[in-house]
Amino acid sequence: MLEMLLARRSCRKFEDKAVEEEKKEKLLQAAQLAPTGKSTRPWEFIVIENKETLQKLGNCRNPNQPFLPETPLAIVILGNTQKTDTWIEDASIASIVMQLEAESLGLGSCWVQIRLRESNQGMSSEEYVRKLLGIPEHMAVLSIIAVGYPSGIRPVHKLDEVDLTKIHTETY
Ligand SMILES: Cc1cc2nc3c(=O)[nH]c(=O)nc-3n(C[C@H](O)[C@H](O)[C@H](O)COP(=O)(O)O)c2cc1C
Repeated sequence: MLEMLLARRSCRKFEDKAVEEEKKEKLLQAAQLAPTGKSTRPWEFIVIENKETLQKLGNCRNPNQPFLPETPLAIVILGNTQKTDTWIEDASIASIVMQLEAESLGLGSCWVQIRLRESNQGMSSEEYVRKLLGIPEHMAVLSIIAVGYPSGIRPVHKLDEVDLTKIHTETY
């Protein structure tokens, strides 16, 4: 696991190659095997590969996210606010579990923050994505995970990034 964490980098440049059905299925399985508060499983996912929709998704942030239109696959992570007060934590954990599964499948990924962000269309990122994809009000939009085969070399993390001053023993 530590080796994979060292190798994982956010990926914003992808090969022009679709993600296979089998790998897509594994990404969605991994996300739904993530732990949730009181096991409420409040997440839902929207899988997007349509080029026109990906193009429009690029405007979900201000400034825009230029890599989204070039991404072969984007998965929108939603949390049901009526089910639990831990939907933010639950949807965040599902997002990172999906990113780690992507890494283990040889794919690259990047988290695009939607919650509390602004689009370049005069409305919040959440409102923009909600309108574009027809998402009901009770489903909050946390993030979009862009996934694809990485293009180019990403420098790996190093263990010397680990900051021992952040670790306290017994008391702060
Ligand atoms: C909560 C969260 C929000 C993020 N939002 C964005 C985003 O909106 N756009 C983007 O390009 N990257 C986003 N990222 C990726 C971070 O920029 C990236 O993880 C960070 O710079 C560390 O780089 P690394 O992932 O290569 O280790 C986000 C990551 C997290 C965890």
